[in-house]
Amino acid sequence: MPIHLRAERGDYAPNVLCPGDPRRATYIAETFFDEGWRCVNTERGLLGYTGTFEGSPISVQTTGMGCPSSGIVFEELVMLGARRLVRVGTCGGLGDGMAMGDTVIAISATAEDTTPLRYAQMDGYAPTATFTLAETAARLSREHGTTVHVGPVVTSGVFYDPDPTTFARWKRLGHVGVEMEAAMMYTVAAVKRLEALAIMTVSDLLGESGDTERISDDDLARGVDDMMRLACRVAVS
Ligand code: HPA
Repeated sequence: MPIHLRAERGDYAPNVLCPGDPRRATYIAETFFDEGWRCVNTERGLLGYTGTFEGSPISVQTTGMGCPSSGIVFEELVMLGARRLVRVGTCGGLGDGMAMGDTVIAISATAEDTTPLRYAQMDGYAPTATFTLAETAARLSREHGTTVHVGPVVTSGVFYDPDPTTFARWKRLGHVGVEMEAAMMYTVAAVKRLEALAIMTVSDLLGESGDTERISDDDLARGVDDMMRLACRVAVS
């Protein structure tokens, strides 16, 4: 039994959704899972649930925020038999023409927080999504009529950045979003030979001069619902 996920092999499905926020894990189980799901972890408030989505086995596990917390959870999910990780969450939007509530599919995640590089034991490395999952997610979201942005994101360790030029410099390199866990997930997945994809809802628009604009709670709830349903479909695809 791992230290932070107090569960045994078999308690988790091979396909696991990974939100940062424990309330979102509970919401996903209550809203999207079929009847009969169960709680498999409460340790440290890292709530985890296992059930089925449209008949297929699925789990959802809270990661907490940032690479160190999420890295522990990804690693322990591997110990417990996970084979596919789908991060669901929010990101700051960097792209031109992006709107709050849009969906971002991260084909890669630059490790501005260097925890993933330390874990990979390499000076340089490009944390990358599983292409087939990215392809499926893009197709399903277009079919649903969602506005989707597919591109690289930045995984940062700093939410409140004192440097107002950071967002513009990442945007110059083609990044479409900023978040805090995807690079860690892609790196653990690469080292442990799992599949992984991060799908996020744009919750903030990050301006060139470091200014940020935040989505209303209602618009966020709508965007996140679309994104989470998409993530369930991708997880069991
Ligand atoms: N930075 C990092 N993570 C985030 C942000 C952000 O601006 N918005 C949502 N998650």
